[in-house]
Amino acid sequence: MRVLVIGSGGREHALCWAIANSPMVTKLFCAPGNGGIAEIAELVDLRAEDIDGLVSWTRDHAIDFCMPGPEAPLVAGIADAMEAAGVPCFGPLAGGAQLEGSKTFMKEVADAAGVPTAQWRRFTDAPEARAYVAEQGAPIVIKADGLAAGKGVTVAMTTDEANVAIDDALLGGIFGEAGASVVIEEFLEGEEASFHVLTDGEAVLPLATAQDHKRVGDGDTGPNTGGMGCYSPASIVTSEIEAQVMETIIGPTVTEMNRRGTPFRGVLYAGLMITATGPKLIEFNVRFGDPECQVMMTRLRSDLVPALLATRDKELHHIALRWHDKAALTVVMATQGYPASYPKDTPINDLDAAEADESITLFHAGTRRDGDQWLSTGGRVLGVTALGETIAQAQTSAYRSVDRLDWPRGFCRRDIGWREIAREG
Ligand code: AMP
Ligand code: GLY
Repeated sequence: MRVLVIGSGGREHALCWAIANSPMVTKLFCAPGNGGIAEIAELVDLRAEDIDGLVSWTRDHAIDFCMPGPEAPLVAGIADAMEAAGVPCFGPLAGGAQLEGSKTFMKEVADAAGVPTAQWRRFTDAPEARAYVAEQGAPIVIKADGLAAGKGVTVAMTTDEANVAIDDALLGGIFGEAGASVVIEEFLEGEEASFHVLTDGEAVLPLATAQDHKRVGDGDTGPNTGGMGCYSPASIVTSEIEAQVMETIIGPTVTEMNRRGTPFRGVLYAGLMITATGPKLIEFNVRFGDPECQVMMTRLRSDLVPALLATRDKELHHIALRWHDKAALTVVMATQGYPASYPKDTPINDLDAAEADESITLFHAGTRRDGDQWLSTGGRVLGVTALGETIAQAQTSAYRSVDRLDWPRGFCRRDIGWREIAREG
């Protein structure tokens, strides 16, 4: 079969890598992809947000299955448009994608389903929002309602900070329409974990657990990023916690989405806070995490493609997935300056040396090739991913690989996996 993956990040490289390994796939395309993806798929020069362009290209090129990676096209209705054009497409229809597209929608669904999550209120008026913050006190969390490319959340440790975030969104308009309303939430205390399932609206299949490092600096300090590193499994998600998450968060949400007539299908990624009183939902995403996808695909031993097809075809009850007992760990390498501004087209050398060990896979997130020279094209640029007997071993291999790379303008955190390694003892 002929498959099109949509997106250009490390997640999409990992998806392409897994899909290209499937004996079912005769030809793989990726739009727009990146330099690393070009080694295993044919690139298509269309942006992930260009839904009309992608649909017509897909029809012209006899694509049998379409796999969107990022949330933006899903929220904008790419699955609806592909299906209407007769192209089977993984992922939720726009109605289901609202679980990520609107924080208000997600909180309403969570409340209707009785899902444990932070208490919240929605505001469009700045003085009312400030009054609520004054009443609740800090710490408190302010979120732009819509998609803000991961930048719409302020965890305010003081009421002053909260008020600035409110004014920026509601008066300053810094998030545009996405910040025309804000959700103000109770601050949840605990450790975060990433929990992904595949669901076709009836069957639900949990995937491997993971933990991500969202802050840019060592010791989880500095500004939030898309994710600076990740590992799987995450032992904080014990089998008891996993059972609780399935029973109190995932199951009721799938049921509630069916009740509303907008069944959810695709990958549902719950961002969890493991609190002293059990797991609570922070947010839903309607796509794989990035870099969570990189560690999950590295640990997956089964063919991914039948699982994706079954999710779309409502046949998921037939699927079981096998995972490596080994651990996987990804160190994200980014261009100096990320998550603020950073230069483009900085030269990266010795990629082959970095990938020489059998335990290493390099997932490209923002590269291109100019003749024999690799260049950076983004903030997050590479995901150096290692398999190991333990997280500590995977970490050692990943940093050995990082140190073989010659990229003067790149940086990474040096402590990916620290929580788990402390637990491994
Ligand atoms: P989100 O974009 O909703 O994932 O939020 C980004 C980050 O903000 C999360 O990964 C958490 O670290 C933090 N966060 C979001 N909501 C809360 C909350 N209610 N309590 C504590 N931290 C939160
Ligand atoms: N790594 C976090 C995310 O993909 O949202």
